Amino acid sequence: MNLHQLIEKTRTCRRFDSTHAISADTLASLVDLARLSASGANRQPLKYILVTEPSQREALYPCLAWAGYLTNWEGPDPDERPSAYIIILGDKEISESFGIDHGIAAQSIMLGATEAGLGGCIIASVKKERLRLVFDIPKQYEVLLVLALGKPVEKVAIETIQNNDVKYWRDDKGVHHVPKRTLDEIILGR
Ligand SMILES: Cc1cc2nc3c(=O)[nH]c(=O)nc-3n(C[C@H](O)[C@H](O)[C@H](O)COP(=O)(O)O)c2cc1C
Repeated sequence: MNLHQLIEKTRTCRRFDSTHAISADTLASLVDLARLSASGANRQPLKYILVTEPSQREALYPCLAWAGYLTNWEGPDPDERPSAYIIILGDKEISESFGIDHGIAAQSIMLGATEAGLGGCIIASVKKERLRLVFDIPKQYEVLLVLALGKPVEKVAIETIQNNDVKYWRDDKGVHHVPKRTLDEIILGR
């Protein structure tokens, strides 16, 4: 897989084979990709919590909001839930703000997940105070993102955007369609 293919394959996935276990070591190897990624002023203020235990996954799941555009879908059924999560935190003792560090870290992790045969979803819509309580996260850390990971059971197709409609949709065969703007639209003056 070349880089273009890897990025193309790194689609958001929200339904997984929940019987497929992901070890904490696998998650650590993905965080290592984030560790090696760019960071504003090289401050490296991000910290991570690895979540693999079933009881922790169950406690984390209700803190997340899934697929806002799929209004008739509450999120994955219990047998299609993520096998693991990575919680990305900002350490306020290192930096007051975290810029785009967590976005870069998240993409590095998602690319590594694809390479490892996994898939996932970057989740910013998080009940942060509830999650703080569940994981007993000290105030020193700001909750930034949750990455949900698992073995994908969802098919995803990239579509060319029509009528400026950015909403993804799921067809009657369960295929998830994600519209992308064209290169001509996003490069000005081309
Ligand atoms: C910063 C960010 C926050 C996101 N938050 C959520 C979220 O809270 N819930 C969710 O289901 N998907 C979330 N997503 C996934 C986006 O919906 C997804 O990236 C988008 O639909 C495009 O699909 P693609 O990733 O396959 O290109 C988020 C993605 C990003 C980059």
